[in-house]
Amino acid sequence: MRSEVHFRCSIPAVFVSEPAIQIRRFALRMMENIYNKVSEAHRFIVERSRHFVPEVAMILGTGLGGMAARIDPVCVIPYQDIPHFCLSTVDGHKGSLILGGFGGKQVAVMQGRLHFYEGYSLEQVTFPVRVLRSLGAEFLAVNSAAGGLDSGFKPGDVMLVTDHINLIGSSPLRGGADPRLGDRFPDMSRVYDRQMATLALDVAKEAGLGIKSGVYVAVHGPNLETPAETRMLRLLGADAVGMSSVPEIITAVQAGFRILFLVAITNVNNPENMSQLSITDVISHARLAEPTLTYILENTVARMTGAWVESG
Ligand code: HPA
Repeated sequence: MRSEVHFRCSIPAVFVSEPAIQIRRFALRMMENIYNKVSEAHRFIVERSRHFVPEVAMILGTGLGGMAARIDPVCVIPYQDIPHFCLSTVDGHKGSLILGGFGGKQVAVMQGRLHFYEGYSLEQVTFPVRVLRSLGAEFLAVNSAAGGLDSGFKPGDVMLVTDHINLIGSSPLRGGADPRLGDRFPDMSRVYDRQMATLALDVAKEAGLGIKSGVYVAVHGPNLETPAETRMLRLLGADAVGMSSVPEIITAVQAGFRILFLVAITNVNNPENMSQLSITDVISHARLAEPTLTYILENTVARMTGAWVESG
């Protein structure tokens, strides 16, 4: 890990009752386990990559792994080699950590992600995010396939996510507290980095690429939505729906990442006239959006600077 932070107890132990001390010890042991696993994965990657330090981390979603062809690789590590990484069981998710150059920056890219619906715990799904942060990356660019809920969207559109709703049913931060992993109650009032978002919009505009923006809602999956659920999600204020990303993003907020989230709209769900959808359609339509997404990401990464200060 980058810096060693020691446990802080806000209440001196002498003033805390014996059962409370035991609960705290138990919670610390649980989180100690995550911290130790992150440290192990971190040490493995540092050794295998000969001390590669990424500035930017990226997570590529369903049907969007082809973006990896734009990376100039220094080291490619299959997930199965990395201690405590799990394997993706979904088509369109390759399962390699690529370390290399992209947009003139050093990047660490997850080609393929894990989903809660695969049966993994949210701790397993989000574990790589903690490892990416431990390697030194400050920025995280996430992308994923999503269904459009705004009737003005069409398959192949790209949407910049400005906010999200978590309907997965749990939080990846559930469990004990360990200050070395970040704040137990991270603020969520400004999840998405404004400077990165503005830059992505500028890049798209200058290239004449239309880009939407809106709210992403994460659902459990793997089943798709009924018409009634689609109507409800729209009423809740969501513009696009998907089965991923939000757990990783919540963990990334806790870990102190600056976050950009772009989604590829693979289908548009009209509750009054739902069309049938298959994973094959999702993958092929994600590929429609891939060139636009790749262009925006590559050029955004190229113009990003660590000297940015997050403003109001
Ligand atoms: N619903 C949920 N997840 C999705 C969809 C959808 O319509 N399209 C792509 N991912």
